[in-house]
Amino acid sequence: MGKKVLVIGGGGRCHAIVDSLARSERVSKVYCAPGNAGIATQAECVPLPVSDVEGLLGFAKENEIDMTVVGPEASLALGIVDRFREEGLKIFGPTKAAARIESSKEYAKDLMARHGVPTAAYRTFGDFDEALAYVKAGPIPVVIKYDGLAAGKGVVVALTMSEAEDALRDMLLDEQFGKGRVVVEEFLNGPEFSFMCLVNGRKLYPLDIARDHKRAYDNDAGPNTGGMGAYSPVPFVTEEIRRTAIETILQPVADAMADEGVPFTGVLYGGLILHNGTPKVIEFNARFGDPETEVVLPRLKSDFYDLIEAVVEGRDFTPEWRPVSVLGVVMASKGYPGKYDKGYTIRNLDSITGKVYHMGTGSRDGKIQTVGGRVLMVLGEGDDLADARRKAYDAVKRVECDNLFYRSDIGAREC
Ligand code: AMP
Ligand code: GLY
Repeated sequence: MGKKVLVIGGGGRCHAIVDSLARSERVSKVYCAPGNAGIATQAECVPLPVSDVEGLLGFAKENEIDMTVVGPEASLALGIVDRFREEGLKIFGPTKAAARIESSKEYAKDLMARHGVPTAAYRTFGDFDEALAYVKAGPIPVVIKYDGLAAGKGVVVALTMSEAEDALRDMLLDEQFGKGRVVVEEFLNGPEFSFMCLVNGRKLYPLDIARDHKRAYDNDAGPNTGGMGAYSPVPFVTEEIRRTAIETILQPVADAMADEGVPFTGVLYGGLILHNGTPKVIEFNARFGDPETEVVLPRLKSDFYDLIEAVVEGRDFTPEWRPVSVLGVVMASKGYPGKYDKGYTIRNLDSITGKVYHMGTGSRDGKIQTVGGRVLMVLGEGDDLADARRKAYDAVKRVECDNLFYRSDIGAREC
């Protein structure tokens, strides 16, 4: 009998997950809560918010779901994995305690310090005056991070002392993201890459590497965003760098969490930087990256359900990859990551032959409309990065919508 799967989330990452599961020979039915207009073409969308843990649990039981895959951190932080497991349901993701590797930067940094995992030097503060004195005594640039979930907006790379002071004031005095502490971190210089490993306790199932583009505008100008484009594989990340990252970062962290009684299950996402030739940790996430997932999963040759099931059951499985490059360009609402308007009609998607993952779309009167900040991820697949890039941008130019912008330099540096 084919498997019934529930995917939780409604962005581009979930569209990629749904797409991969819908293509699996093992899967007969995919539900997605809440989904979006693109996901609705490949799954049955269920109108439950990602925060409604009990509602989602009830749905999974009633519909005899075989496997639930969690997209967003918000559901993880609410303990959705713990609740599903208590009820004997299979779910892919970390427990609430293990998800702290993402939701608490202080927990992540302390864990790395205890186990000698390479990362930027840091100190944590709850008091504005103490934090300011520490920053003033140290070098610039300096990195200031809010210690909690801030939708990817709680990090300031301060290039001047007054920027640093403003960031500390916003976070500690004005409580921009709520009451909390900040981590003040050494600035590391180098190219960044994203390494997602599926994990069950001490067992690692590494995915292929991807690279995100976090700033809003070309040449890495403008504010940080959730990600404006990505590609996979990443030519500068050699097999040796990948192996070093596994041996010095991903495996030790998985082992450390198991040793400390909070074994990790799900996606351990290392946001890494190549600093003087050595990979170091910028951050961990406890979930699939967005938009990295959209460029990694299309390259997976193995059946995605087989992989997820093997991880959840702790069985050996080595994912295989297609030897192609995939590059994706995010089309976002003008104004994102700040304020933006919604409700613009998107046309001409039918003329695109490659993949388009929907990030923030809805449908109204049979038309696709913008409903989010990041709206579409338009993909190109090719023999190499340059080929993938050309195809992605050809497709982007076909999209008709009055209120979208995109970066024109995704992948440009490595082509
Ligand atoms: P995070 O949310 O921790 O990934 O931070 C967002 C972005 O800020 C990262 O992708 C980096 O570009 C930058 N960043 C964070 N920490 C550092 C650091 N210690 N040194 C240099 N850049 C950093
Ligand atoms: N693309 C970065 C993230 O998923 O957090």
